[in-house]
Amino acid sequence: MTKPSKSTRQRSAADVLASRLDKRTARLGVIGLGYVGLPLAVELAQAGFEVFGVDIDEHRVRQLNQGKSYIQDVPTADVKKLVREGRLHASTDFSSLRKCDTVNICVPTPLSKQRDPDVSFIVAAAEQVQKHLHKGMLIILESTTYPGTTDELLLPMFTKDGYEVGKDFFLAFSPERVDPGNPQFQTRNIPKVVGGVTPACTRVAVKLYEQRLDKVIPVTSTQVAEMVKLLENTFRSVNIGLVNELALMCARMKIDVWEVIGAAATKPFGFMPFYPGPGLGGHCIPIDPFYLSWKARASGFEARFIELAGHVNGHMPEHVIELVGEALNLRSKAIRGSRVLVLGVAYKADIDDVRESPSLDIMEKLRERGAKIEYCDPHVASIKFAGGVMKSVPFTAASLKRFDCVVVATAHKAFHFPSVLRWSKTIVDTRNAIKGRHANKVVKL
Ligand SMILES: NC(=O)c1ccc[n+]([C@@H]2O[C@H](COP(=O)([O-])OP(=O)(O)OC[C@H]3O[C@@H](n4cnc5c(N)ncnc54)[C@H](O)[C@@H]3O)[C@@H](O)[C@H]2O)c1
Repeated sequence: MTKPSKSTRQRSAADVLASRLDKRTARLGVIGLGYVGLPLAVELAQAGFEVFGVDIDEHRVRQLNQGKSYIQDVPTADVKKLVREGRLHASTDFSSLRKCDTVNICVPTPLSKQRDPDVSFIVAAAEQVQKHLHKGMLIILESTTYPGTTDELLLPMFTKDGYEVGKDFFLAFSPERVDPGNPQFQTRNIPKVVGGVTPACTRVAVKLYEQRLDKVIPVTSTQVAEMVKLLENTFRSVNIGLVNELALMCARMKIDVWEVIGAAATKPFGFMPFYPGPGLGGHCIPIDPFYLSWKARASGFEARFIELAGHVNGHMPEHVIELVGEALNLRSKAIRGSRVLVLGVAYKADIDDVRESPSLDIMEKLRERGAKIEYCDPHVASIKFAGGVMKSVPFTAASLKRFDCVVVATAHKAFHFPSVLRWSKTIVDTRNAIKGRHANKVVKL
């Protein structure tokens, strides 16, 4: 750390850091430059700071240093400008953290094979911070995780050498709420919740975010901040589970669930529409609630809503297979030997992310039943599938006409659904993308 001048010697480390943040002389570090870390690094650099990004992925680091963005929501022009101006640096070498006043950790938090939290990426990143920890440093964990991670797991790693939290260094948790592909809400205008280990930790963490983000909401502890994120994602998972169950129920009763939800959504208060679908996808909703239920279990509490929603949502890909069987029946065909095209492998519309995508599960299940599977996704040129690499087929009349059944799994804007209806022999529509009733051709979720 730079030696304090005579005038700053009497001031607390928190005051010194706050002043460096105000003056834009602080150097900022971001560990993990993915969907969360890269937009954050770019925002902070655009606020006028020199930002040092560290990632273990050499390819990503190389691309950034060449001024290229690999995240859809981050324009390459922004990255290029910041790199050229020397405000954004990327490296696989963690020693750049030594010169950083703040470090945001934005690494993955997946589930293990046993579906328990896998915090190994957080620990690996924190070990690197520990090596380069110095007085006055602020560390903020942004990865989604179970309540207690910051205080129970990270804090002891940083206090080992006799450093006192809130005095010698600062530690906080701030959940990331980014919604990839959302044109209205991005890192800058999504309110940021922050909870520090001590009030001084919260104060400097708030100070950092206030330099660029529109709204910062301090809370009283790291555990509250951790729980906020899990509540938000559990809320979605449980409500999606509810409408998925309603969809299965409506199918039995021959009621159009989409019409029901559309009409219910006209209520101006007390109702928020959620929609059924082929299953949960992405890095957050299918995973995060299990971080919470794991921690609840460790405290002797059974999180029944989470488990039930997981059960209902987890069954949806299997239900889609049944619908494919129904659609093929319309043409007296079996799944085995039929050609099936999955439209959309990204887990939601208009993005290129296939992590945990239910489309992959559906494709695998259809393949196991003997279908000849291909996919079409203008956002995803190729995927790993069945031990090899599969390329997207083009969205044309000729290619769709080759298939016995087309499964609408993701309603990308790039798909023109009246054409899908015209070009396809049979359709399974899991997104209510095909308008009108076409009982001889379309089977709806
Ligand atoms: N993607 C989202 O929409 C989203 C939204 C909110 C919260 N989150 C949470 O944010 C966290 C990060 O998610 P993401 O989507 O940005 O993941 P990501 O996979 O897009 O990016 C993570 C990056 O971290 C790097 N990395 C892994 N281990 C590292 C290490 N030890 N040191 C340095 N870099 C390392 C990876 O190479 C990768 O580039 C997760 O906890 C996730 O749950 C994600």
